Amino acid sequence: MTVGVPSSGTGAAPPIADRPVALITGASSGIGHAAARRFAARGWRVFASMRRPEKGEALRGEARERGWELQTPQLDVTDDLSVARAVGALLEDTGGRIDLLLNNAGYYAYGPLEETTPDELRAQMETNLVGVHRVTRAVLPAMRARRAGRVMVMGSLSGLLVLPAVGPYHASKWAIEAWTEALRYEVSPLGISVVLIEPGPFKTALHDNEVRARAHTAESPYAGMVAAYERQARQIRRAELSALVDTIERAATTRRPRLRWPVGPNVISAGYLRRIVPDRIYELIMRFAFRTRAP
Ligand SMILES: NC(=O)c1ccc[n+]([C@@H]2O[C@H](COP(=O)([O-])OP(=O)(O)OC[C@H]3O[C@@H](n4cnc5c(N)ncnc54)[C@H](OP(=O)(O)O)[C@@H]3O)[C@@H](O)[C@H]2O)c1
Repeated sequence: MTVGVPSSGTGAAPPIADRPVALITGASSGIGHAAARRFAARGWRVFASMRRPEKGEALRGEARERGWELQTPQLDVTDDLSVARAVGALLEDTGGRIDLLLNNAGYYAYGPLEETTPDELRAQMETNLVGVHRVTRAVLPAMRARRAGRVMVMGSLSGLLVLPAVGPYHASKWAIEAWTEALRYEVSPLGISVVLIEPGPFKTALHDNEVRARAHTAESPYAGMVAAYERQARQIRRAELSALVDTIERAATTRRPRLRWPVGPNVISAGYLRRIVPDRIYELIMRFAFRTRAP
């Protein structure tokens, strides 16, 4: 595994073939965008993929200005053909080299489960879980061929605990915990490392683009619970992205990375305390925090 950009010894940028290669999904905004900028600034060759490359105009402009090796290929994680095309073109370009896959694309679907249609739940899992699966399967043969590479997955504090009214997103992030751990055990003997970033709340467009389950009515028995959730969500302190990007960079470059990388507000206090609090106590806390009047 490459752990940094080798120096050319003359102070000049190293030849392109010597630069580590990163593929990032969902790089049009937020964490993916910030990580793309960081790796490009460090001299990596960055494929900052996005489902709508027209959103990458400013990033491409910045890359031109700063002399970064950065492209913004089209890649929608829910689309087999789009993934195959983007990964195929990358591998052709790099001669089969890919050092890092950052599975970052995702969105936030919430709402009580009774009011969530199967299609809405399926769509959430299709992006946040199956999308990760699809892109990772596309890059693994190239990583296996070189017996090198790192797969990074964007988990969440939401994969460590559960709140009512956020079942769809929690389900996807709990699933990604298991998926990532299984993959790690499977591919580490093949020379590939797998890491899971577990961020707490950070300032991105995630909640501007959140999707609420549609099957609710004015008389919803869950209205009070959803209102309590929305009120609390508005009050959450969200951190700047720099600490998270530092963690992503460390997890990408350290020689023998551990599996889990919790980072950000509440991750230690909420995430890991949840593990030791008995279910009955946690349930009482949830009942109190999200209490609703009986209909
Ligand atoms: N922000 C947080 O507090 C937080 C905490 C824990 C985990 N996370 C996770 O971090 C990841 C990035 O989220 P973010 O906070 O940076 O939010 P964001 O600013 O909304 O970025 C999400 C990115 O994913 C992309 N995306 C969504 N569906 C896609 C698809 N089908 N194919 C390709 N790209 C797709 C979006 O593209 P468009 O621009 O086209 O919509 C966008 O680039 C997500 O997996 C999220 O669950 C975030």
